[in-house]
Amino acid sequence: MATTSTLTDRLGRPIRDLRISVTDRCNFRCVYCMPRDMFGPEHAFLPRAELLTFEEIARLARVFSGLGVQKIRLTGGEPLIRKDLEDLIGMLATIPNLDIALTTNGSLLPKMAGPLARAGLTRVTVSLDSLDDARFDAINDVNFPVARVLEGIEAAAAAGLDPIKINMVVKRGMNDVDVVPMAEHFRGTGHTVRFIEYMDVGTTNGWRLDDVVPATEMVDAIAARFPLEPIGSDYRGEVAKRYRYLDGAGEIGFISSVTQPFCGDCTRARISSEGKLFTCLFASEGHDLRELVRSGADDDVLVEAITGVWRNRGDRYSELRSAATSELTKVEMSYIGG
Ligand code: GTP
Ligand code: 5AD
Ligand code: SF4
Ligand code: SF4
Repeated sequence: MATTSTLTDRLGRPIRDLRISVTDRCNFRCVYCMPRDMFGPEHAFLPRAELLTFEEIARLARVFSGLGVQKIRLTGGEPLIRKDLEDLIGMLATIPNLDIALTTNGSLLPKMAGPLARAGLTRVTVSLDSLDDARFDAINDVNFPVARVLEGIEAAAAAGLDPIKINMVVKRGMNDVDVVPMAEHFRGTGHTVRFIEYMDVGTTNGWRLDDVVPATEMVDAIAARFPLEPIGSDYRGEVAKRYRYLDGAGEIGFISSVTQPFCGDCTRARISSEGKLFTCLFASEGHDLRELVRSGADDDVLVEAITGVWRNRGDRYSELRSAATSELTKVEMSYIGG
């Protein structure tokens, strides 16, 4: 097998994180991700047989781990609507030295947090875009109440799935008024809110640069109420810029992919639920690993294929982002998992 020290891409970036989407479906219809008029009853989601099985996912995870991956994050759509997900966690937990995380909308955590933690999940990140029911409903578009997401966060904390992060995608005119209340609500809880600049992922959300609230504006708004100071990254390639409250009430993060891209340190690979390997969130095409797996390829063949793709990688979409790149065909967020 190739060793961890040798596998870098054309820009010298190693492979460290693997994001695996386990389903392209979701029980929410967030307006910035799966707008209902594009993801209605007639939308063609992937048929079950097209999805990687848990055995196939676990096998790929093991191969990636051998190539230097240290963290696996399960995503969707909404990963917790994939049946028996705790069984997959249990299989991944047998791979040594692997951090296993999950990004979820939190709706099913009250029921699932315990089983997931017992199966070996390390931690969760929960998306929550507003603390106001009317605005949250206008975003999730399925009438899902804030209180049930908060219950999910509490269930995750009780199950020991911490440190918990809360992701808030901020879009101008949609929920920018919630930035300071969100910071206030989670100060002192030990949970880290990350404020995310709205990105031009996919082609269905009608993204415009005017919709983006720059991270600097959010930092200033929060710091005016609760003084902040920047702190260093937790690990190389961390997407969030971290800040801490001067009064000791904890930390927050800002993910500023639009105004301050972080491609230079991007160590992330992604696998779609149908087994395509993507080397950038904004890619239009992936490399089919399922075909290889299902054709009976042994591990050496998989290693060779993945190594070839990574060595050839030169992606830095966010650094090149422009009006022209925003128009390109890109896969949807619900397909690639963020
Ligand atoms: P940890 O650092 O392990 O907590 O996870 P994370 O922040 O990498 O993952 P999460 O799923 O919470 O993603 C947070 C936000 O960052 C989402 O909006 C993602 O789409 C975005 N994001 C994650 N990785 C990348 C990336 O490589 N490029 C860009 N442009 N955005 C990313
Ligand atoms: N821009 C930024 N973040 C997004 N997410 C979904 N769509 C977008 C977008 N257009 C977030 C989700 C989730 C994470 C995986 O990505 O809210 O927290
Ligand atoms: Fe579902 Fe997350 Fe997309 Fe909302 S942002 S529709 S919860 S996958
Ligand atoms: Fe990585 Fe692509 Fe995001 Fe840049 S835009 S940080 S290369 S995933």
